[in-house]
Amino acid sequence: MISQNTIQQILSRIDIVEIVGGFIKLKKRGANYLGLCPFHGEKTPSFTVSPSKEIYKCFGCGRSGNTISFLMEHEKYSYVEALRWLANKYNVEIEETETSPEYKQQQQIADSLYIINSFAQKYFSDNIFNNEEGQAVGMSYLKERGFREETIKKFQLGYCLEERDAFAQQAIKNQFNTELLVKSGLVVQRDDRLIDNYRGRIIFPIHNTTGKIIGFGARIIKSNDRAPKYINTPENEIYIKSKILYGSYLARQAIDKNDECLLVEGYTDVISLHQAGIENVVASGGTSLTPDQLRLIKKYTNNLTIVYDGDAAGVKAAMRGLDLALEEGLNVKLVLIPDNEDPDSYVNKVGAATFAEFVKNNKKDVVIFQLEVALKDAGGDSIKKSAVVNQVAETISKINKAEDFTKQQDYIKQCAELLKIEETGLNALVNKFIRERISKQEAKLPADEGLYQEQSTGQTVTRVEDESFTLLFKDELQERAMVRSLIEFGLQQWDDNRRVADYIFEENVEHEMIDNKNLLRVIETYKTWYDAGLEPTSKNFLYHDDLQLSTLVVSLMDMSHELSPNWKDHYDGKIFTREELYKEEVFSSLNYLKLRKIKRLIDTNQKDMDKPHSNDEQLMMLQTHKALKDMEMELTKQMGTVIFR
Ligand code: UTP
Ligand code: MN
Repeated sequence: MISQNTIQQILSRIDIVEIVGGFIKLKKRGANYLGLCPFHGEKTPSFTVSPSKEIYKCFGCGRSGNTISFLMEHEKYSYVEALRWLANKYNVEIEETETSPEYKQQQQIADSLYIINSFAQKYFSDNIFNNEEGQAVGMSYLKERGFREETIKKFQLGYCLEERDAFAQQAIKNQFNTELLVKSGLVVQRDDRLIDNYRGRIIFPIHNTTGKIIGFGARIIKSNDRAPKYINTPENEIYIKSKILYGSYLARQAIDKNDECLLVEGYTDVISLHQAGIENVVASGGTSLTPDQLRLIKKYTNNLTIVYDGDAAGVKAAMRGLDLALEEGLNVKLVLIPDNEDPDSYVNKVGAATFAEFVKNNKKDVVIFQLEVALKDAGGDSIKKSAVVNQVAETISKINKAEDFTKQQDYIKQCAELLKIEETGLNALVNKFIRERISKQEAKLPADEGLYQEQSTGQTVTRVEDESFTLLFKDELQERAMVRSLIEFGLQQWDDNRRVADYIFEENVEHEMIDNKNLLRVIETYKTWYDAGLEPTSKNFLYHDDLQLSTLVVSLMDMSHELSPNWKDHYDGKIFTREELYKEEVFSSLNYLKLRKIKRLIDTNQKDMDKPHSNDEQLMMLQTHKALKDMEMELTKQMGTVIFR
């Protein structure tokens, strides 16, 4: 765990313009910076960064956040990864705090598993080179398949003897813990005895990106219908299948050099291609790509080339990861190996040069490929064809980063041609999918964020003020204004004895004045801090580890510095900044909420009066009504006239 002290040091050095500006081009506009939003395609910039508030906000798609959430979203970092990245950038030395006992225990298990795996690898490799059975069965199998000794050494391949517990005995002799041995998958427990799990199999060690062995794939040699072709390490503390790309450790440099990553299905494909001098290759393990695997590839390169055999299953599996790959901004190409061969057998058949040439000349854009296959499927059926149009539009809509905008336009053009439909129509359909997705994402945001829309028209920012919108959400806007006032002005003086926060809490805002639960939570959090003697500012919220809370507060921060709706009417001609007007703003927000509460009380009272009552009761209700009406009038009058100086 990173210590609080380190986190504070990192946060104090953050310069949001520098960080965000490192990823997208920003131009200064007044107090803020403006650029093209990296989270949705746009031609006119509406992505605004406020250095003073340390937040960004896109007036096009509505996304907002702080420096850390930017790194998390843009670079797909976790919270801790983002902190580490920033620490590295600002040369802050990371101080780790005492870790929890559970975490420590997990680390210990992981360390032990690495040691067991490393021991096992050496043992299995030794079999291949020095054991009679290993030579006769294991080595001769690998040689038959065309693997050279240097390749076998490079990939640390091995062999597990046919015996019942040859490895288990060695492991026990070396005092490895039984429970951990079982966890590693190398042995299984049967009636108090440990039995080798990979008997009579070729062993393929699987390395993580730093070269440590996290597990094994064990391939059967003799054909046997009842046994699985491969037995793989079970999921444990270090073997997490969804994060594994076989070969990534050895491919890293070649991927850098070629700025391209080849993806194949099997271990043997990776090894054969390496042997042929094609080293920028990793294997997925035959299943569809997971988000973690895609992210790993994306760290190395933007160009992913899937090299699969032509059989339908493999291609289908690859396609399932396609949309995700596009979302990650990867350029995905597909090469299909002909004649029922796979990359391993094909490179062995035609040789390295021909293979490389074939890959180079047969790259097919994967979106176009998918479209062609679907079109062929649809034939003359117009219903099927319209489904294809929808599908391709949705796929293209996933290419949604600003820097990929041209790529998206290219696809629209090419696909429209193939589909023989109008480009503008397809464009509109793609946009529809983008809009739908964004509104779905917004629906998930706290405090009905999605309803509070702002639109960018050129350089000036105007609020959408359609009538039904105002009617429906005015209360929420006022509640937001109240919470914003508290956060922005809470520490300023209200009068000689009190600060704004004191005044607000004396008026009991946190009791029955705020309907929105999330906004209420912000107020309560503020109050807890304030009562504890802290001086809360928006920054305390911005970096709050409750992401919902921080997102909400970011959305409250008003970057346009426009006057709130209350002021437009009262100060004709004169324009004050919000800071100058903070007392009025606080006063007005509070009075509005009070007024609303009184109106509700009047309503309830009125409804009661409509029911039959005794005379005394009637009289009391009338008096209540009058008292409430007086209060309402007083408040309304104050709101219209009072000006603080
Ligand atoms: P393949 O059947 O293509 O195996 O499965 P391969 O690695 O090319 O082996 P050879 O060339 O036939 O000897 C591709 C990948 O799918 C996973 C393995 O990761 C394998 O490399 N797989 C396959 C399993 O995990 N279990 C299996 O039973 C089969
Ligand atoms: Mn194969």
